[in-house]
Amino acid sequence: MDDIQFRKLLETLDLSWEGYRKVRKGVKKRLRRYIKKQGYSNFDTYMQEIHLNPRLKAECLRLMTVSISRFFRDQNLWQILEKEVFPALLKKEKDRIEIWSAGCACGEEVYSLTIVLKRFEDIFKTLPDFEILATDLNPVYLEKARIGVYPKSSLKETPPEWLGRYFEPLAQGNLFRIASFLRQNVTWKAHDLLSDPGQTTFDIIFLRNNLLTYYQEALKIPALCAIIDRLAPNGFLIIGSHEKLPPATPPLKAFKGHRYIFQKIDLSRR
Ligand SMILES: C[S@@+](CC[C@H](N)C(=O)[O-])C[C@H]1O[C@@H](n2cnc3c(N)ncnc32)[C@H](O)[C@@H]1O
Repeated sequence: MDDIQFRKLLETLDLSWEGYRKVRKGVKKRLRRYIKKQGYSNFDTYMQEIHLNPRLKAECLRLMTVSISRFFRDQNLWQILEKEVFPALLKKEKDRIEIWSAGCACGEEVYSLTIVLKRFEDIFKTLPDFEILATDLNPVYLEKARIGVYPKSSLKETPPEWLGRYFEPLAQGNLFRIASFLRQNVTWKAHDLLSDPGQTTFDIIFLRNNLLTYYQEALKIPALCAIIDRLAPNGFLIIGSHEKLPPATPPLKAFKGHRYIFQKIDLSRR
């Protein structure tokens, strides 16, 4: 499959060339293997089938998903969460705080969050209940997240002194299993970000390195608006450090000037 064919496929699926450009080698390899295994004579025959068969199109979208992630990706974010975002939320004196990790891949972002929350709990002793909904389109990634075993390479931004406290080393220290006490309060669920996000209202939504990076505007904007709709007034939307919100995204403001943390404006107080 050459780049022209790959771009044609992205166009058909409303995915973004800019988003896929750097990761296309691995995605093309996975697609090539799939096309061969399924017995299509060539890429063009597969493309024709995708147009005719919605099930095949959905399968192709799952094959296109990129699970690149790591613990404490964008280190600065985790410090801002600990020092500014959580304290702002705690001031609200709620009994329960709802968090959504949307497009969570194999759980690195989710467990980074549970580690930060655990550290917070150790300091403050009494905290509201935290409920984390972790969703992804790809059930294979969710299964890996549930198992919670990671290569050393995904922990390179994790402070070394935390490895012993929050992970159990396996395979002579080449793999690390997340501690069982960090798995509480997390619900894993298959969900497509382009579909109805449901009725729950969240205090924080992580939407990092998925919808805004890999999709074209036509899909991205309505899905983003529906996701922002699920944020509580003054709730936080967190995007990837290299991502930008589309220009007319209502009704958010940058939180304390941070480029990738936004707060929902409470329109009822205007
Ligand atoms: C690059 S990973 C990002 C993981 C994590 N949020 C982070 O920033 O490290 C992108 C994830 O988004 C998921 N994803 C892509 N499109 C999706 C969709 N339409 N609905 C739900 N998840 C999606 C992929 O399956 C993949 O696991």
